[in-house]
Amino acid sequence: LRTLKVALLGCGNVGAQVARILIDDAGTLAPRTGARLELAGIAVRNLDAEREVDLPRELFTTDAETLVKDADLVIELMGGIEPARSLILSAIQNGASVVTGNKALLAADGPALYEEADKAGVELSYEAAVAGAIPILRPIRDSLSGDRITRVLGIVNGTTNFILDQMDSTGAQFADALAEAQRLGYAEADPTADVEGHDAAAKAAILASLSFHTRFDLEHVYCEGITRVSAADIAAAKEAGFVIKLLAIAEKIGNGDGSEGVSVRVHPTLLPREHPLAAVRGAFNAVFVEAENAGELMFYGQGAGGTPTASAVLGDLVSAARRIVLGGPGRIESTTGHVPALPIDAATTSY
Ligand code: HSE
Repeated sequence: LRTLKVALLGCGNVGAQVARILIDDAGTLAPRTGARLELAGIAVRNLDAEREVDLPRELFTTDAETLVKDADLVIELMGGIEPARSLILSAIQNGASVVTGNKALLAADGPALYEEADKAGVELSYEAAVAGAIPILRPIRDSLSGDRITRVLGIVNGTTNFILDQMDSTGAQFADALAEAQRLGYAEADPTADVEGHDAAAKAAILASLSFHTRFDLEHVYCEGITRVSAADIAAAKEAGFVIKLLAIAEKIGNGDGSEGVSVRVHPTLLPREHPLAAVRGAFNAVFVEAENAGELMFYGQGAGGTPTASAVLGDLVSAARRIVLGGPGRIESTTGHVPALPIDAATTSY
C-alpha cells in the first residue's frame, strides 16, 4: 500500500478526535482507503495547550505552512477566516485535497475556494461543516442530484435546539438553559454565533448552495436568533399545539411575476408538534428535505461534539484519499479488512 501524508490544522475538540482516530484506527482505515493514512503533523498555535486526547508530542508544530507543503491531504479544523483560508489555498495549489469543517469560511468565501479546487483538480470536502455527524451534504449533492429539491428545513444548531428544548420541557429561562449548553460543551467559544443564529446562517448558505445549485453566501441569508424568545412565547406556542424551533430554511418561492427564487433564512419558527422536526430534542440536529421525486426525507443525528463531527471528517478524508489512489474520481470496494460474515445463527440478533 502507498502512504498518503495527512496534515491536520487545529487540535480543538474535533481535531483531537480526528488525530486519535487516525492513529488508533490506522489498521482499519488502510484497506478501506487503499492507502495508509499517515498523520504527518498537527499544526497548533500553542504547543503547550491542554488537549482532550493524549497525542504524541512530536506530531505538534506551529509551522502550518511547512506541514501543508508536504501533505497529500490537509484537514483544516482551525476555524475562522485567516490563516485558514490562506492555508487551504496553499494546500490546493500544491495539489493536496482538503477536508474542512469551517462553516464560517465556506459561507463567507466558499465559491472562490471551490473554484480553486476545481481548477487544481483536487477535492474540497466539508461534510463536517453542517450538522456534525449527519451525512447531509453528500446526499444532497450526490444522491439527490437527479431530483429537484424544493425545500430544506434544518435544525442545524445544537446549542439553540438544546436551549429551546430545555425552555419547552422544563420552563427554564433562556440564560440558565444557555449556561447548561455551555457546560455541556455544545456552544461555540463565543455563544453569540449560536444564539444570534450566525452559526445556523452559515450552514443555511452551504445547504442552499448545494440544494439549489446556486452560490449563496451569508449576505443572502436573513438571520434572526433566539435571544428574544421568552418563556411566555414558548408556553403560548405549547398551548396552541406548536413548538418553537430555530430553523434554517431554504425554499423555492414564486416572485409574483411567474419567476421563481430561493429564500434562505434562519429564524425561530412555530412548528406543529406532530412535524418530524418537532421530535428533535436536546442538542440533536436534523435536516428535513423535500424533493419533487423523492418526496420527504429526514436526516437525524448528532450535530456537534468532537467524536461525532470527527466521523464526518474521516468520511471525507477516506473518500478524498480513495480518489487519489484511483487517480481521479471514483470509489473502490476493498475486499480485504472487512469483518467476516458470521454464520446465519450467530448473526441473528434482536435490538
Ligand atoms: N455550536 C455548534 C452547535 C457546534 O451548537 O451546533 C456545531 O457547529
